[in-house]
Amino acid sequence: MRGIILAGGRGTRLHPVTRATSKQLLPVYDKPVIYYPLSVLMLIGIREILIICTPEAVSGFRSLLGDGRHLGISISYETQEEPRGIAEALVIGERHIDGEPCALVLGDNLFYGPTLGRTLRDAADSLEGCVLFGKEVADPQRFGIAEFDASGNLVSIEEKPAYPRSKHAVTGLYLYDGRASRIAADVRPSPRGELEITDVNQAYVEEGSARFVPLGDDCTWIDVGTEESLFDAGDRVRRLAQEHGVRVGCVEQVALEMGFIDADECSRLGRESGDSPYGRYVVDVARSLNGTYREGESP
Ligand code: DAU
Repeated sequence: MRGIILAGGRGTRLHPVTRATSKQLLPVYDKPVIYYPLSVLMLIGIREILIICTPEAVSGFRSLLGDGRHLGISISYETQEEPRGIAEALVIGERHIDGEPCALVLGDNLFYGPTLGRTLRDAADSLEGCVLFGKEVADPQRFGIAEFDASGNLVSIEEKPAYPRSKHAVTGLYLYDGRASRIAADVRPSPRGELEITDVNQAYVEEGSARFVPLGDDCTWIDVGTEESLFDAGDRVRRLAQEHGVRVGCVEQVALEMGFIDADECSRLGRESGDSPYGRYVVDVARSLNGTYREGESP
């Protein structure tokens, strides 16, 4: 399975902090926003990842993540000149996807939780058509919203409905079979002028091959598109680190646990991070897994 992180957009809702940098490079407590969606793709077991960002931001992402080799993955980059819509990621990424199944994640979406990895890997293993991951929200007018019939079957997805038919939002993580680029290429701009990912998803719903997988109560999803949600995300991640000693979204830890790198490499990455609390955590993770961990073994 191939992975795409869509990390473009102007971030205007966060001005002035995003005037000189990309939203996905801002910190959420101890690490840049993009670490979180990257760790999610890695948790699925994906090692070939394309980052799509603005032309101005590409050098920043490259200095942060390079070609991904240090994490045992491969990262490549493409640019999106203008934010023409999320569905365009599947068109820009067509060569990278190369007709294989793929996972698309929005670069400003955070997901974490003890059962997340297992849920995502199970969905990927049984993928037919597309899988949409859902979460109940209090403000459904802001999201893609799923509608179900009386038997609980998914019957439609509506983008930012004025009169939502449910509170089940479609989060910014999507799994598709090998046809996603072709379907996205046929999408036409919506009344608000965007190539909507909801139109791609709706095409799968109409052919009866879209599955809606609700994320469990122990899974947290935050879209850090506003100053409040960015602050809230940082606060939650800080509390998990301070109260439970767990740094969610730690890509070195996920690389180690998924068998992409060994404990020596993980420890080296931690030391390379300098004398930061994050770097020390990575070294500790490598130490605690060393000896008990066998290459290729998934957590
Ligand atoms: O967060 C989940 C929601 O994401 C879904 O429920 C909606 O169905 C989906 O349309 C999307 O809604 P948003 O209003 O959150 O999308 P937004 O325009 O904020 O874009 C999400 C991220 O994708 C943002 O970080 C910028 C990036 N992006 C967006 C567009 C439209 C791009 O990189 N390029 C684009 O063309």
